[in-house]
Amino acid sequence: MSSEIEMIKDPGLPAHVHRSMDIDPKAAQRAERQVAILFILSALGTLLLIYSYVFVQDDIFIFIPVLGNMHAQQLGIGMGMAIALFCIGAGAIHWAKTLMPDEEVIAERHEFRSDDEDREEFVKTVKEGAAVAGLGRRPLIKRTLGAALGLSALTPLLLLRDLGPLPKDELTKTSWKAGTRLVTDPGDRPLRAEDLEVGAVAQTLPELAPDQHRTLNDIAKDAVLLIRLRPEEFNLDAERLSWTHEGIIAFSKICSHMGCAVALYEQQTKHLLCPCHQSTFDVTRAAKVIFGPSARPLPQLAITVDAEGYLIAQAPFNEPVGPSFWERSS
Ligand code: FES
Repeated sequence: MSSEIEMIKDPGLPAHVHRSMDIDPKAAQRAERQVAILFILSALGTLLLIYSYVFVQDDIFIFIPVLGNMHAQQLGIGMGMAIALFCIGAGAIHWAKTLMPDEEVIAERHEFRSDDEDREEFVKTVKEGAAVAGLGRRPLIKRTLGAALGLSALTPLLLLRDLGPLPKDELTKTSWKAGTRLVTDPGDRPLRAEDLEVGAVAQTLPELAPDQHRTLNDIAKDAVLLIRLRPEEFNLDAERLSWTHEGIIAFSKICSHMGCAVALYEQQTKHLLCPCHQSTFDVTRAAKVIFGPSARPLPQLAITVDAEGYLIAQAPFNEPVGPSFWERSS
């Protein structure tokens, strides 16, 4: 037994070599400044992140050799976060390696739960350790660490900015209005009823005025699927039937579940399918949901023809397009 205790007390480690910071106050001050510089760099990294997120326009690009054109805002956010995290980690490690107590300690094993005396001893030891770590004696480190940690804690708050502002009625608006012609996509060619055979399906967009151009957002909200059935195949009330023209019916292409493109049409069953989560809409019953997670039909665009025989919208969509959202009840 006594020889086992001997082994624990003297495991044969090489003689302990003291660090220069333990014996040379100037080396300790140098290490302290290095740690402080790392914490300051971390704080600057966080400021770069915040500046990039808030003030850099999201359409500015920077050319970087080898990497090519980089999105300036994302580059700033990424570099800021990398600098902030790396420097705060490097500073903490450098602090621990150079300035914290350098003692070899043998911790003997004990039962899982310590007795009360040991627990009190532990609390006392932790407090002593905190005192020995010298935060009180090293105000420079204390302040720079506080600044670095405080600023890094602000970063998650920035994400709250992505929650707002509320969309209000923005999501309910599209470019469709009464009289807007339906044009082919691609091609922008106005469509007539005879361009679509029975059983055919086509994607269309609203016609643009000569001085207008489409953004990707417009295309995402305006895309319409035209489907031609035989008029007797519809199972619609009189009002909905009046929104069709010679068997042609028009729905938003944006799934009312989570906004994927409803891109599959089963000609035999007359079902539209969303490939994302398999919501299935019955074309003959005004895109009623017959399967899948979607909670409401695809919005319908009432159509007719103008004096020249081109297909036009009678009115905007009957409902907001796209996924249901929190300002809607469904
Ligand atoms: S997005 Fe269409 S079913 Fe989920």
